[in-house]
Amino acid sequence: MSSIGILGSGNVAKELAKGLLKYGYEVKIGTRDQSKLEEWKSKEANGATLGSFSEAAAFGEIIVLAVKGSAAEKALTLAGVENISGKTIVDTSNPIADAEPVNGVLNFFTTYDESLMEQLQKAFPDAYFVKAFNSVGSAFMVDPSFESKPTMFICGNDQISKREACQIIETFGWEGYDMGSAEAARAIEPLCILWCIPGFRDNKWSHAFKLLKL
Ligand SMILES: NC(=O)c1ccc[n+]([C@@H]2O[C@H](COP(=O)([O-])OP(=O)(O)OC[C@H]3O[C@@H](n4cnc5c(N)ncnc54)[C@H](OP(=O)(O)O)[C@@H]3O)[C@@H](O)[C@H]2O)c1
Repeated sequence: MSSIGILGSGNVAKELAKGLLKYGYEVKIGTRDQSKLEEWKSKEANGATLGSFSEAAAFGEIIVLAVKGSAAEKALTLAGVENISGKTIVDTSNPIADAEPVNGVLNFFTTYDESLMEQLQKAFPDAYFVKAFNSVGSAFMVDPSFESKPTMFICGNDQISKREACQIIETFGWEGYDMGSAEAARAIEPLCILWCIPGFRDNKWSHAFKLLKL
C-alpha cells in the first residue's frame, strides 16, 4: 500500500487520515502545529505519524492537500517543491472567500475562468493535481451510507494520478467520475457552493451528489 502525506489538520485531514489508515495506507499528517493533533491522534489515529508540512510531503508517495483554500499555495510552498514534484496531489481545497455567505451561497475568491486548482497547478507545474473530495462534508468522505453510491467528480491533467486518486475514492465507497483536465475544476469547485446551500439555509448537511446515467 502507498504512503500518504496529508497537508492539513482540520476535519478533512482527520477524516481522510482515519479512512486511509483503516484501508491499510501509511499516513503522516503535516501541520504547522503538531501539538493540536496529539490528543486526537492518540484517541483516533494512533497508526498515523505527525510532522511538519515538509516532513509529511517528503513521506508521502501521494499527497493529500487539505488546507484552507486561501492558504493552499503557502502550505505547498512550506511543503517544499522538491517534496511534491512528480507526485499526485489529491486536492480537497475550495477557494472560499472570507465574506459571509449570501442567502446560504458561499463566496469564492476565484473567477469562473480560473479555478484554485489551476492556480496551484501553474504555481507547481511538476506536481500532478487531482481535484477530489471538495464537494461533500468531511463526515461522508469515508464509507458514506447513502441510499446508493454517491459520485465523486474528479479532474486533473495526469491520467496515472487520476487513477491513483480513484483507487482511494473507490476504496472509500464512492464512484469516481473523471471530468477531464484541470480546467474542469472551474465546474467541480463550485459544487461545494451548491452542496453547502441546504446546510446554511436549513441546517441540512447530510447529502451527496450522484450522476445519473442511461
Ligand atoms: N470541512 C469540510 O467538510 C470540507 C469538505 C470538503 C472540502 N473542504 C475543503 O478542504 C480544505 C480543508 O478544510 P478543513 O475544514 O479540514 O480545514 P480548514 O479549517 O479549511 O483549514 C485548516 C488547515 O489550513 C491550514 N492553514 C490555515 N491558514 C494557513 C496559513 N496561513 N498557512 C498555512 N496553512 C494554513 C491549517 O494549517 P495548520 O495545520 O498549520 O494550522 C490547517 O491545516 C478546505 O479548503 C475546505 O474548503 C472542507
